[in-house]
Amino acid sequence: MKKLVINGGKQLNGKIRISGAKNAAVAILPAVILSDGVCRIENIPNISDVNAMVNILHKMGAKVNRLSKTAIEIDATPVTNPEAVWDEVMDMRASSYLLGALLGRFSRASVAMPGGCDFGVRPLDQHLKGFEVLGAKHTVDKGIIRAEADSLTGGHVYLDVVSVGATINIMLAAVRAKGRTVIENAAREPHVVDVANFLNSMGADVRGAGTNIIKINGVEHLNGTSYSIIPDQIEAGTYMAAAAATGGDVVLQNVITKHLESITAKLREMGVEVDEYDDCVHVRQHGRLHRCNVKTMPHPGFPTDMQPQITALLSTADGTSIVTEGVWDHRFSYVGELKRMGANIAVDSRVAVIQGMDILNGAPVKATDLRAGAAMIIAALAANGTTHIEEVQYIERGYEDIVEKLQSLGADIKIIYTDEPTAQTAQTA
Ligand code: EPZ
Repeated sequence: MKKLVINGGKQLNGKIRISGAKNAAVAILPAVILSDGVCRIENIPNISDVNAMVNILHKMGAKVNRLSKTAIEIDATPVTNPEAVWDEVMDMRASSYLLGALLGRFSRASVAMPGGCDFGVRPLDQHLKGFEVLGAKHTVDKGIIRAEADSLTGGHVYLDVVSVGATINIMLAAVRAKGRTVIENAAREPHVVDVANFLNSMGADVRGAGTNIIKINGVEHLNGTSYSIIPDQIEAGTYMAAAAATGGDVVLQNVITKHLESITAKLREMGVEVDEYDDCVHVRQHGRLHRCNVKTMPHPGFPTDMQPQITALLSTADGTSIVTEGVWDHRFSYVGELKRMGANIAVDSRVAVIQGMDILNGAPVKATDLRAGAAMIIAALAANGTTHIEEVQYIERGYEDIVEKLQSLGADIKIIYTDEPTAQTAQTA
């Protein structure tokens, strides 16, 4: 079993480069299935969710050529069987994108029901509603979702909830459908825009991504392309929080500052100095953080994927803070782990009330999911003493080289391997 061992109290100082966006990469990779050519994708993060998706495409028959640690070339034209039903498909929420991509190319798809981080029910009803509008009927049998249409025809989809996954999945199914598709109440996240830009680079006609109305005119074919993935908004936000938590002075290179606006605004409210430049941010913190209230919302609101990290930060702020989770039903499961370190947090459903402590103390804890794991690292970096973090595999799903990046900033962090059994095998989001 792998564990992280962190000796807290060291200020983070220096500069690191932010990697490509996980939630763009895990959607752009299945989108390659729609192409009649070869796709070269750069700035792809070397993380386990991305590698799992690449393995699934390879198993489906795609030709994969790793050009470097962060560049890959994929030819999915040899894929002929619109099925992805292996176990690893079930382990990752992003596997649901295989439905939209296979439907978009073959007008039929069979995909194992995806799993994902466990913070409440993660339904697919909005995805399936969109496919139905395009003419696809679906069944669920023995854990496999099967969707099929004679051919896909564009239509008008009004999403009941703002859903990143449904917005992307319907885009994938619609880009080669006959006629025009309109997605209303669409998600506006940066990775939704990145997927739309990738599709357009292959010759698709997707307009309005980044607004709540996306219009897609179907095209016959999509060509090969060369595309570079945007930097990861949540990875950047995580390191901004880590710099603030340790009273550090850190420059994050390769960011899009516009994608960080809600995170920057909240950190500034807490008293953190954030200076924005063309493709980097400079984060400095002196003295105690101020309390503040946070409500997570779909983009451009404060991102839910930064909720655990900001809660860890507020655990030692001066005063009482309230964090309200506006997207997921149960995304505070990690609070129990923070309380093992001395945090004073009361949770009631989607609201956490945080009494800031002077300092947290190191303890043995575990990552309960990807972003919760990041929150434990932030708490441990600022804490007094040593923290052991188990279930490291969750963290490796979404953070490229996190130990090396933190070590380069002066953190006392290392991975150790022990033979004790892991409490549970991890699912991935
Ligand atoms: C994506 O998940 C991200 N995952 C999540 O990030 C992120 O938390 C989430 O978007 C919200 O930003 C990936 O991109 C791989 P949703 P997704 O569909 O698409 C409800 C991380 O840490 N809903 O936007 O599954 C749903 O229950 C991961 O990187 C329906 O009701 O999220 C939730 O309340 C964790 N029906 C809300 O919408 C549906 O058909 C938003 O979910 C779909 C969603």
